[in-house]
Amino acid sequence: MLSNELTKSGRQETCLREIQDIYKEIYQGFLDQPKKIYLTEKDFEESPDYQYIDNLKHSYVKYDETQDNYKLLPLYYHGGVKVQDSKYYRKLYSILDGFPNIASCCIIVVRANTQIGRHNDMEPGWRAHITLDSGGGNDTGLIYENDGKKIKHIFSNGSLNIMQPKYNYHKGWNRNQNERVNLVIDFYNGRHANEMDLKKYFEEYNEVFYGLENMHDFYEAKRIFGSQYTQTYAEFLEGDLKYAS
Ligand SMILES: [Fe+2]
Repeated sequence: MLSNELTKSGRQETCLREIQDIYKEIYQGFLDQPKKIYLTEKDFEESPDYQYIDNLKHSYVKYDETQDNYKLLPLYYHGGVKVQDSKYYRKLYSILDGFPNIASCCIIVVRANTQIGRHNDMEPGWRAHITLDSGGGNDTGLIYENDGKKIKHIFSNGSLNIMQPKYNYHKGWNRNQNERVNLVIDFYNGRHANEMDLKKYFEEYNEVFYGLENMHDFYEAKRIFGSQYTQTYAEFLEGDLKYAS
């Protein structure tokens, strides 16, 4: 159950290697993309009492450790939804279209001098991190627990790690000089997949985000209205635009 290993020479492994091979190109596309709209921690605050409660994942993280310490650029959802302009991510998108059992893909940027306390996330399944830019050094990474064993992964450029954010307690840090940029892919490991598990996986994954369609519409509202749009995701879900679940 806790095994993070993929089937050797399986399709998922091949896709991840292909993405690793072009990580510099992916990063360049990201840099070239103008006026990027991010999801931020603020979007997922329950109330402005400055006690940070992650409304998206329900995982409690100490506010002073996490204030605005990451931002997230959604790229892709299962079903082939391409969130950003394809011209900046052409090769990546074509690999993701052939990635079996993929739930989502995004880019997460973590500020310099940041620590993220020990926690687990609500997302079921497996998570791959591929580092696009470590932030200029090797003092950034992830420590997680797998079968009672502590595993430390350093986010060096082009490196790959696979873990289970729901079952592997983890903490992270970035003590490099600059922001660290990771590509994150959530998926269900083909080694463990059968039709029923997959169905359950996508249902659960969807629930964590209160419906990926809602998440996507919230993001579109941010993109269209820019800084005039001040609703949090919780407020958006209270409103009329929400999909019926
Ligand atoms: Fe996490």
